[in-house]
Amino acid sequence: MNKAAVILAAGMGTRMKSATPKVLHTVAGRAILGHVLAAARAAGATRIVVVTSPEAEDVRAFAAKEGAESVIQERQLGTGHAAACARSALQDFTGVLAVTYGDMPLLTARTFEASFEAQTSAGMAIVAFEAKDPAAYGRVILDRDGMLDRIVEFKDANERERAVTLCNAGLLAADAKSFFRWAAQLKNDNAQQEYYLTDIPRLARADRVACAVARTGEEEVMGVNSRAELAAAEAVMQRRLRTAALAAGVGMTAPETVYFSADTIIEADALIEPFVVFGPGVIVRSGARIRAFSHLEGAEVGKDALIGPFARLRPGAVIAEDVHIGNFVEVKKARLEKGAKANHLSYIGDARVGAGANIGAGTITCNYDGFDKHFTDIGVGAFIGSNTSLVAPVKVGDGAITGAGSTITKEVEPDALAVERAELKVLKGWAEKFRARKRAGKAKRETD
Ligand code: UD1
Ligand code: CA
Repeated sequence: MNKAAVILAAGMGTRMKSATPKVLHTVAGRAILGHVLAAARAAGATRIVVVTSPEAEDVRAFAAKEGAESVIQERQLGTGHAAACARSALQDFTGVLAVTYGDMPLLTARTFEASFEAQTSAGMAIVAFEAKDPAAYGRVILDRDGMLDRIVEFKDANERERAVTLCNAGLLAADAKSFFRWAAQLKNDNAQQEYYLTDIPRLARADRVACAVARTGEEEVMGVNSRAELAAAEAVMQRRLRTAALAAGVGMTAPETVYFSADTIIEADALIEPFVVFGPGVIVRSGARIRAFSHLEGAEVGKDALIGPFARLRPGAVIAEDVHIGNFVEVKKARLEKGAKANHLSYIGDARVGAGANIGAGTITCNYDGFDKHFTDIGVGAFIGSNTSLVAPVKVGDGAITGAGSTITKEVEPDALAVERAELKVLKGWAEKFRARKRAGKAKRETD
């Protein structure tokens, strides 16, 4: 069976108080809408249409980048109207359609699948949950057989209906062609004068199509409407990611202090110390150890490498097997080959560091001239003395040594020593004479 998804995201999200559209705010480093797209896709949806407001150009660009289509809802006339806007995009589609909201980052593929399965047996399905505080959710009223009788929106509900704690999550699955036929029949004769998606099951019943009710947990359907809810969703997502990492064999002594991105890949038997943050795009291989207070983003860490404490790996950092990156070392767009070491206080950007090379404390690749970035190439087994400035573009050959404190502006041949230093003067006894003069001056001032 072909599966498609329609994701409603034309709402304003004004409560975020942000210039960024709500669905582009991130949870675990991925846009909220990205989470919903990923879940729909993992559940087998091959066509995904995002419903957007006219001004949300960046939401459409995001959808396109993620391989989804988008349509515009000219005016926000309600969730049913929004879903109907996807009709033009799905004219040629035959199969089952799931309709959901773009602001539920915690929705899982499993819940999408459950709605598809329930749809197969009944003809239509919605997803519901038991709410601790049902607040303003739509209430799900069941018939005697446990099938859906109706969904009543809070504002339209009477006291008895409001007392119901089974709530509409906001995921509906139906045959696509029938869905759009029903959506065209929706009316807005309700408290909010909106075209409700939740009226679709009632229209379906007139065609003798029943609606099953699949269940999910309250946590999954948590919508994000404010910064506080965004932070709450982040906390739930981090808990899920930590649990999954531990189950996959990642070692963590204080998992509650480690922050993942949704796409973080860590192999079994890697060890993550407390207070480590993984931005998007990180891969850590087995046996690697990420020591406390390190920040990684867009980086790959090889087998048995040692990173941190207090290390920063930025996008394009490729750290090979057995490499050591120590405290206060920043690496950007640089490849450190097997066994290379940069143990203290360095910036390595736009560079290659050959296998086994040693980067002394305080070494800087001067990669930027204010306009362009330049490359530094450090050979296999090279020894870069402490506090070396490597003014790129520059190359240090295999096995070469640079003297501490040198500024390297020219290519250094393999196995050569490059040292750039003014001649050292040592003035015997000078320090003692200097102190005697200073002491005498001070004593005179105090007696005056
Ligand atoms: C909706 C449900 C309610 C359910 C709740 C779960 C309806 C009528 N009600 O209520 O039963 O319990 O979600 O959270 O569906 N949107 C558009 N265009 C519109 C209106 C809304 O794209 O014209 C999008 C919004 O961006 C949002 C989603 O649809 O992501 C839900 O809309 P919202 O107005 O928040 O619905 P609720 O009142 O929360
Ligand atoms: Ca809502």
